[in-house]
Amino acid sequence: MTNTAKYAVITGASKGLGKAFARELAATGKNLILVSLPGEGLNGIGGELKTEFGVDVACYETDFNVDENILKFTDWVNENFQVEILINNAGIGGSKSFTEASNQYLRQIIQLNITSPVILLHKLLPNLLKQERSWILNVASMASFSPMGFKTVYPASKRFIHHFSRGLHEELKNTGITISCVFPGPMRTNTTVSNRIEKYGIWGRLILMTPEQVASKSIRRMLKNDRNIILGWPNKFYWFMMTKFPPGIVLQVATRFVKNELIREKQQAK
Ligand SMILES: NC(=O)c1ccc[n+]([C@@H]2O[C@H](COP(=O)([O-])OP(=O)(O)OC[C@H]3O[C@@H](n4cnc5c(N)ncnc54)[C@H](OP(=O)(O)O)[C@@H]3O)[C@@H](O)[C@H]2O)c1
Repeated sequence: MTNTAKYAVITGASKGLGKAFARELAATGKNLILVSLPGEGLNGIGGELKTEFGVDVACYETDFNVDENILKFTDWVNENFQVEILINNAGIGGSKSFTEASNQYLRQIIQLNITSPVILLHKLLPNLLKQERSWILNVASMASFSPMGFKTVYPASKRFIHHFSRGLHEELKNTGITISCVFPGPMRTNTTVSNRIEKYGIWGRLILMTPEQVASKSIRRMLKNDRNIILGWPNKFYWFMMTKFPPGIVLQVATRFVKNELIREKQQAK
């Protein structure tokens, strides 16, 4: 490989939190490899960052719902780039009754939130381990701190990411790599999430952070080798409630909250 420069890989980089991560890292002079679904304007975003911050930006469009695409992408990265940072950001969620959810909906959450980050990390790990220091940031969610009816698979998938990150960090603790996990609360990243946050009222607005705030604080703490990243006192308070109250009560309250949200959505759609 002739290219000896080091790069940060960011998945889901064309919008939302992924785009904010890309901008934040470019501003600190990091070269980037950005990945997103095709047709999301990724090359335009990459071009802007290149011009504004003078870093190298490589863009790759693919659909991580297909395992073969993940392998093609990681082969391309390993053949052409030295990777010092991997941000596993791409992920999907939502609220839905399990009995009404389609098989495809459930599979997509598992594929994008669990299978894809694990395979990406597994394939890029030898590259990251070649660097003297390297960092992995896996994006979980505050929702991972309790199971929830009417969301079911999403919080469970983010809980998986938390446990996976902790276990892998312990396994690799004598190497130059740090594996961190960030637990964002609500962010207005797309219309569906924004509409949902509006319905949370004052509570939603209290724990709300912008993707830019989450990206900047997460990167700062990742580079300080902080492994579990909970941002801001409202999220820390929420974490305290979720983990210190009896789990059965937290589960019931969280489930009722999501159920009421779905009922309101159905009433408004009529
Ligand atoms: N928004 C919130 O309130 C919130 C709260 C807690 C945690 N999170 C987590 O933060 C992360 C980013 O969420 P977000 O709200 O910024 O994202 P978003 O706007 O909902 O978009 C989902 C992300 O996943 C990517 N993606 C979706 N399907 C894909 C596929 N088949 N192949 C490859 N990439 C795909 C998208 O990439 P493209 O760039 O290609 O569109 C996009 O970056 C997720 O892991 C999410 O679970 C979000």
